[in-house]
Amino acid sequence: MKQISSSAVIELALDLATSLNSKDRFDRLLDTVRKAIACDAVALLSFHGDVLKPIALQGLSRDTLGRRFFIEEHPRFLALCQSKAPIRFAADSPLPDPYDGLLIDRAGDLPVHSCMGLPLYYDDNLLGLLTIDSLTPHDFEDIEVRTLEVISAIAAATLNTAFLLEQLESRADHSQQVVAELTEEAWKRDGGELIGESSIMSQLKQELDIVASSDFNILIYGETGVGKELVARTLHQKSLRQHGPMVYVNCAALPENLIESELFGHVKGAFTGADRNRAGKFSLADGGTLFLDEIGELPLAAQSKILRAIQNNEIQPVGQDNVEEVNVRIVAATNRDLKEEVGEGRFRADLYHRLSVYPIRVPRLSERVGDVQLLAGYFVEQTRRKLGIGQLKITEQAIAHLTQYNWPGNVRELEHVVSRATLKARARQRGKKIISIEQADCGALKRTDMQQTFELLADNEDSLKADHVITLPLKTATENFQKQLIIKILKEEEGNWAAAARRLSTDRANLNRIAKRLNIKVLKSVV
Ligand SMILES: Nc1ncnc2c1ncn2[C@@H]1O[C@H](COP(=O)(O)OP(=O)(O)OP(=O)(O)O)[C@@H](O)[C@H]1O
Ligand SMILES: [Mg+2]
Repeated sequence: MKQISSSAVIELALDLATSLNSKDRFDRLLDTVRKAIACDAVALLSFHGDVLKPIALQGLSRDTLGRRFFIEEHPRFLALCQSKAPIRFAADSPLPDPYDGLLIDRAGDLPVHSCMGLPLYYDDNLLGLLTIDSLTPHDFEDIEVRTLEVISAIAAATLNTAFLLEQLESRADHSQQVVAELTEEAWKRDGGELIGESSIMSQLKQELDIVASSDFNILIYGETGVGKELVARTLHQKSLRQHGPMVYVNCAALPENLIESELFGHVKGAFTGADRNRAGKFSLADGGTLFLDEIGELPLAAQSKILRAIQNNEIQPVGQDNVEEVNVRIVAATNRDLKEEVGEGRFRADLYHRLSVYPIRVPRLSERVGDVQLLAGYFVEQTRRKLGIGQLKITEQAIAHLTQYNWPGNVRELEHVVSRATLKARARQRGKKIISIEQADCGALKRTDMQQTFELLADNEDSLKADHVITLPLKTATENFQKQLIIKILKEEEGNWAAAARRLSTDRANLNRIAKRLNIKVLKSVV
């Protein structure tokens, strides 16, 4: 029987006591596990309701850190989360292994052979899992139960310490908030997570933590596809208004004659067609956050009305005599340089100053060192779920290929490259247990002259070929067709949106809205 040596335990205890931060502590924990148990991969995952989040790993590709595992979709994880004791899965267990294809230093799609997992409990609460894998079958069969118990206890204590420290840090940052609630929310929340560990992203996250709980209006700016909307949602979720509504307004898509009614509402009979009272976005957002997306596209007349509402905290619905008080925090976003817009008279200086009490810049993807890999892993897992693929991996060469690109379309472009590459990989490897995204699936990732004029972020030349269409859901196939058609007309009209809209028998605002939904971007607009 294999047993963990007492010297290894003492060494670990000393290591953990002197570790400076959680990452360090987790790394040392995994080192010790590998010393005690010969294995090819070990991972520590934290538990968040229905999701497991890898927080430290060895022997698995780094993109795994960006993956979020939905427990009910992974029978092995489910079994572990429901168990109080470690589970050694049989070498021939038919249950799919969530790490199949994720082990590094292994050519081909070798499935894992020995696999065990340790549920980590502290005070009867499940904090996470420790998983240990080996490519050699029956490797774990003669490890003593006691050894596993010791490792579980140490790992659970390590995780608990890390959680406590985080709580303390949150307490220092947000003394006015209830710590328990904050951490619980933060740990359990899933989806819409801001992925990124580069120093520039850590700085951004810190800034968000600081500013979220204030009631300042926030202006979020940055290039297209960097995640401005996601940052706005994060701000709301971290704010004291998190239980209030967050109302979204796309300023670029508001038809000019309806802006006032959309924002402030109207009363019955205010204009032809107003057959009943209707609340505007400001009222809907009362007690919460109003997100004014693409604020730079707002006509000057509408800007003054918004300014008045912000200054006085009151609105006047169209056709109503008296004003109504509202309590709304404004978060605005733009990919324009608003200062320059002010200089050129296209944006009101007073509104700009009101909005930009605290401006937040979301960096380009090319500025976030090391994050492409994490985001790629995150999107691979997301795409796998959406398409219902059992196992999806991305090769190291493909990751390296993604890393060397400069990503003019930022995170959104990466998201689309991963989805497209997955479709290609799946078509190529139909019937295989593990689908592997290879470099060729990701395309050339070089900008052509044509692309520099027309930034076709979601263009997919192959998407209309018959064999692709058959594999796509109707909605996606229809959207692809719309996308191709709009791009074609825009190219023929040399980027003139008004002319393209006329040819498509629609109006410019509507075309803009559809194009935005389909992620069609024209960099050099002629008109
Ligand atoms: N750090 C991130 N982690 C995970 N997903 C991200 C991150 N940043 C962006 N995304 C995803 O990338 C996509 C584009 O992000 P988003 O729509 O927020 O960009 P944007 O800056 O508002 O772009 P635009 O200026 O074109 O409106 C979304 O699907 C979003 O969820
Ligand atoms: Mg946006």
